[in-house]
Amino acid sequence: MLKNESRQKKILFSAVQPSGAITLGNYLGALRNWVDLQDDFDCIFSLADLHTITVRQEPLVFRRNIIEAYALLLACGVNVEKSIFFIQSHVDTHAQLAWILNCYTQFGELSRMTQFKDKSLKHSDNINAGLFTYPSLMAADILLYQANVVPVGIDQKQHLELTRDIAERFNGIYGDVFSIPEPYIPKVGAKIMSLQDPTKKMSKSDTNANACITILEKPDMVMKKFKRAVTDSESEVRYADGKDGVNNLMGIYSITTGKSYKEIENEFRGIGYGEFKVAVAESVIELLKPIQEKFKLIMQDKEQLSKLYNDSAEKARYISQKTLSKVMKKVGFITK
Ligand code: TYM
Repeated sequence: MLKNESRQKKILFSAVQPSGAITLGNYLGALRNWVDLQDDFDCIFSLADLHTITVRQEPLVFRRNIIEAYALLLACGVNVEKSIFFIQSHVDTHAQLAWILNCYTQFGELSRMTQFKDKSLKHSDNINAGLFTYPSLMAADILLYQANVVPVGIDQKQHLELTRDIAERFNGIYGDVFSIPEPYIPKVGAKIMSLQDPTKKMSKSDTNANACITILEKPDMVMKKFKRAVTDSESEVRYADGKDGVNNLMGIYSITTGKSYKEIENEFRGIGYGEFKVAVAESVIELLKPIQEKFKLIMQDKEQLSKLYNDSAEKARYISQKTLSKVMKKVGFITK
């Protein structure tokens, strides 16, 4: 269990895939909330590596991505003294519960998932069953810990709704087995857009490298990418329908500086997009600097890293096994 004194707190679960670089979108949409909510909730975080193999991975690169993502999340402020932070594949209960939940999830429900449709188009040579049933694994991740709150970006909202439906269906048959989780989606930053096509979300898998900022991006690259960010043919910094590029930059700047949209509009009144983009870039460089420095230090001690993820995996196994055993008993399996 987590610390005794924190037992009354609500349980928060979230995860991120170690599929290459962690992006500014991941950070502003979800990870900063993980970090900020650690004092208010019993937090359980995971690197969702089982999810990542729904898209083919090169083993050596995958292994490196997992370690780096773990270190990077620690550098972002995930604190294993307060929270549990484990690697999904180290905790067997996830795959086990996912199988069971697959049998309580309808083909039609999974077919409606927009992420499945998008990824099927993108990886049309590998539309595997894992890609299709991915939301049941995500439901298992959340429900194993009886999570009350799940901080995510808006792109995961549909998966969260399905998780709730699966949990309610299961509870409807067997009684009160799962807590019903609520999404926690930030007002600003829930969907950071591509810098090159601000109608699309910023994504690490974007083929245009200028579209996406990663947390480990060098300052000169951050500056270059923001300077090249697509805006519109006006020159007024103002939040409005149809100004997707500017709206996106304002959202980022609002989070990094704490300024409201009104304050940002006043700050850049009469000044063109050029200076605004430089200011956004500088604020992001400032935000990333301490994270990048910490990341370098953490990566120097791999032994300590493995101790941290192994300790967390043990705690996660203990908690999740309780839920899995309860589920198996309810379904009618013979207990060991
Ligand atoms: P993933 O790895 O794609 O993204 C991790 C988190 O970052 C958010 N996010 C964004 N937020 C704002 N703007 C963006 N451009 C942006 N891109 C990504 C995502 O919403 C997410 O919160 N399936 C999940 C991982 C997962 C999970 C879970 C999450 C597995 N099991 C259980 C919550 C609970 C995923 O692929 O996230």
